[in-house]
Amino acid sequence: MRRVLVTGVTGFAGSHLVDYMLTRNDCEIFGIQRWRSPLENVTHFLDRITMVECDLRDASSTRDTLERMRPDWIFHLAAQSFVPTSWSAPTESLTTNVLGQLNIFEAVRRIGLQCRIQIACSSEEYGMVYADELPIRETNPLRPLSPYAVSKVAQDMLAYQYWMSWKVDSVRTRGFNHEGPRRGPVFVASDFAKQIADIEKGLKPPVLHVGNLEARRDFTDVRDMVRGYWLALEKCEPGEVYNLCSGKDYSIQRVLDLLLGMTKSKIEVRQDRMRLRPSDVPVLLGDRTKFTQATGWEPVIPFEQTLQDMLDFWRAR
Ligand code: GDD
Repeated sequence: MRRVLVTGVTGFAGSHLVDYMLTRNDCEIFGIQRWRSPLENVTHFLDRITMVECDLRDASSTRDTLERMRPDWIFHLAAQSFVPTSWSAPTESLTTNVLGQLNIFEAVRRIGLQCRIQIACSSEEYGMVYADELPIRETNPLRPLSPYAVSKVAQDMLAYQYWMSWKVDSVRTRGFNHEGPRRGPVFVASDFAKQIADIEKGLKPPVLHVGNLEARRDFTDVRDMVRGYWLALEKCEPGEVYNLCSGKDYSIQRVLDLLLGMTKSKIEVRQDRMRLRPSDVPVLLGDRTKFTQATGWEPVIPFEQTLQDMLDFWRAR
């Protein structure tokens, strides 16, 4: 059986990836958890995987863990993933994201582990994209607009460099936005869905706070995304980079309108200046031709279904 390690297993994408792998039933799954990580996303499968306590920012902790586990595949999903936090705490974002990955690569290289690593890079790396560059291909210039995006560019380039210098085998997936049940309540679709559910329950006044509704994003359901991560390690070329996206963009206004169309509550929408960013990425619309040609991957879950599932998730909470 293939030994598979998931970093960030207690998070949103990590927990969905484990759900997917458990349906395949063809690998032994290990997860890394940081001291005091909340376990609510993983309680339903804790008896079917092996959890190990490790802090990826600590080189010796990372090396000891990998030496003991000796995984064949690593899905590296652990990250500080919320863009606004990277302005208020840039050191934390850069340390967690860049140093965490560096420690994994150094451990793999020094132990001499023969393994494949998926690196969760991000469409945020493209940052400022001009109209004549859409849809975005992997060859587009990277013009990051947040410390978070810079940290993802560094992760991306580090993976390329470790392949070129040391033949550490990794595949870089530039994931565009992904949503679904268990999404952290700070991210836009989950935030709006949770506010609606709270209003329906009478937990908050019928006012929904929003930020910049003009931004456009390319959304994929997380359950499609994690299937893509698997295929990346199964079928893609080492050292290569691939866009994972739906190829369809929605304005945030449209996301809001779709969610408001799913409730009977009368809700006032109010812009909150605190939710505006120093520089917001105006549009992310991806071209996934390269990944689909390599793997046959197509997202299948419609975005409207994803939003309905997210609203129902918060209603049930
Ligand atoms: N969070 C949030 N809250 N965003 C809002 C709001 C709001 O109330 N109102 C408007 N927005 C806009 C943001 O300004 C941004 O343009 C867009 O909604 C999406 O915001 P997020 O959901 O926070 O995601 P993101 O696009 O910044 O980043 C996500 O996608 C990346 C991939 O492109 C994250 O998941 C990143 O980790 C990921 O790399």
